[in-house]
Amino acid sequence: MPAISATAPGKIILVGEHAVVYQQPAIAFPVRAVSIKVYILANPVGKTGEVLLESPAIHLVSRLEDLDPQHPLAAVTQMVSQHLGIPRLPAMRIKISSTIPAGAGFGSSAAVSVAMIRALSAFLGHPLQNEEINQLAYQMEVRQHGTPSGIDNTVITYNRPVYYTRGQPIEILSVCSPVHLVIADSGTAASTREMVLGVRQRYEQEGEQIQHIFEDIGAISQLARQKLEQGPIQELGSLLTQNHLLLQKIGVSTPLLDKLVATAINNGAWGAKLSGSGGGGNIIALVDHEMSESLAAALQAAGAARTLVTSLQPEPVSGAQAC
Ligand code: PMV
Repeated sequence: MPAISATAPGKIILVGEHAVVYQQPAIAFPVRAVSIKVYILANPVGKTGEVLLESPAIHLVSRLEDLDPQHPLAAVTQMVSQHLGIPRLPAMRIKISSTIPAGAGFGSSAAVSVAMIRALSAFLGHPLQNEEINQLAYQMEVRQHGTPSGIDNTVITYNRPVYYTRGQPIEILSVCSPVHLVIADSGTAASTREMVLGVRQRYEQEGEQIQHIFEDIGAISQLARQKLEQGPIQELGSLLTQNHLLLQKIGVSTPLLDKLVATAINNGAWGAKLSGSGGGGNIIALVDHEMSESLAAALQAAGAARTLVTSLQPEPVSGAQAC
């Protein structure tokens, strides 16, 4: 059996996080500058069932049978072998390398699942298509995060910008002109599971008020889609900032995230917001391309642990137009 590899990108949520758990639309972009790569090599001298897993990013070198079955890498391997009806795996070595910071809102857990499912199914001679990969990756997200909306696994599986509403068919977006973002990591890792749970508790206590905020966020996602598809891209900026204010109201921002958002706006960004579950993780700022490096420097000076400049270029889909 030849060696097989598969790669999955990171992601950011442009607008709509948290509300997307409650059936409002959201938009997410792949971030291809960071990725997970899974490389699988047959071990012709190994015994059937002998699977060696190596993941330097988490200091892991282990045989599958020695790993806690609840470990995400053990669980995803088990899930693929069950799904394909191959209970005894051939001897193999699986190497996972990552440039996606964990717990920072880049979707690292979904990216590991997607790359593992894609690589393992291909290695086992039954390469799965995106739809099935996405379903299995969603099941992994449920195991790890409780009640995820499914947006992370979807944008990462399809590796295209998505307009996502829970329970609705996936819509791939095409942007009408390049979108330049500066991503700044607050350096604080937060648990998506806990942040989503915290919002659920507020939703259960405050009901209607929080529901209105989710609806306002959903309306922002619809307008953001229009700006992405028809322009002007610059007008997306104020939508991002409005979305940040609504995320503040549901209690998922932090003083550092607020400071980074304010720094971005004071340094010429068209708009900025926290991205992902909040409590830490990233902010994103929409910028004119020429400004991106100077804004990244300003965000670092204001306390960002890391910055990343990323661009989304128009990619043709049917009916797409330039703006
Ligand atoms: O923290 P992240 O980047 O994995 O984003 C979670 C996004 C939420 O909307 C808060 C949860 C979800 O499942 O959609």
